[in-house]
Amino acid sequence: MNRAPFENFLSEAIPERSSYEAPVTRAMRYSLLAGGKRIRPSLMVAAYRLFQDQEAEVYPYAAALEMIHTYSLIHDDLPAMDDDDLRRGRPSCHIAHGEANAILAGDGLLNQAMELVVSAGLNAKDPRQALRAAHSLFTAAGIQGMIGGQSADLLFEGKEAQEQDLIFIHQKKTAALIRTALEVGGILGGATEEECKTLKELGEVIGYAFQLQDDLLDVFATVEELGKPIGSDEKNGKLTFLKLYGVEQTRETIRELFLQADGLVSSFEKNEELQTIVNEILNRRS
Ligand code: IPE
Ligand code: IPE
Ligand code: MG
Ligand code: MG
Ligand code: MG
Repeated sequence: MNRAPFENFLSEAIPERSSYEAPVTRAMRYSLLAGGKRIRPSLMVAAYRLFQDQEAEVYPYAAALEMIHTYSLIHDDLPAMDDDDLRRGRPSCHIAHGEANAILAGDGLLNQAMELVVSAGLNAKDPRQALRAAHSLFTAAGIQGMIGGQSADLLFEGKEAQEQDLIFIHQKKTAALIRTALEVGGILGGATEEECKTLKELGEVIGYAFQLQDDLLDVFATVEELGKPIGSDEKNGKLTFLKLYGVEQTRETIRELFLQADGLVSSFEKNEELQTIVNEILNRRS
């Protein structure tokens, strides 16, 4: 993905305002434009480029996904949830802009995401394809996906649990958005049903590994590397793979999942960009 035009697209999607809505707009831009690895948009664009030569057509969907992800982080950091005061290397949204604006900023980002996707659909050459993409995205963001996972994540705080509970949490709170990134890229690129199925499976595998890495980084990385507090899971009594199975088993599972991911990526021709991003995720230190 070309980072500069995408960042530009994000910024223009939420212009600064000087009127009564200025505080919420400032809070939305503060969190959205604070950096972040942009892994989900990058995966969406890479999946699209398995089948197409440009990428701009995907930007409204990629931006919408990044907005949904960013809103999930703003709300995740609130005192009522993980109560973390650092995000993307700066004070969390509620620390910088107050809790009320942080809640509204999250809501605002979700609505802006919908507006972008609906507008893209209205202008699409193939509205049915656009609707399929929208359906994937918003199902992944909702109670069958990220929100459902966040609910389960809270439910298991401080509780004993089984591996199946953990799998549910990871699949929903994290893998759902990563899976839809790849699926939407495929749908818009014109992938066959079979290819979409492979992309979804790839998203599932990378998404699961991504959360295992996040849980390891929460213990072993530094605040400077992560741009968010370390030790948040311990503080909140979170159920993590690390807690159930220990460091070695977690590292081994991450290795196995990435081997599986390699196999799935290899089933596509012209897969260099996708391969590069998957390798970047494998080797991430933040
Ligand atoms: C953090 O996601 C939340 C998880 C799902 C683990 P990222 O690690 O992608 O965060 P940013 O977007 O780079 O800040
Ligand atoms: C969050 O998981 C997943 C979301 C849907 C936001 P975490 O709570 O582990 O994410 P971080 O570590 O705060 O980024
Ligand atoms: Mg959390
Ligand atoms: Mg958190
Ligand atoms: Mg975490």
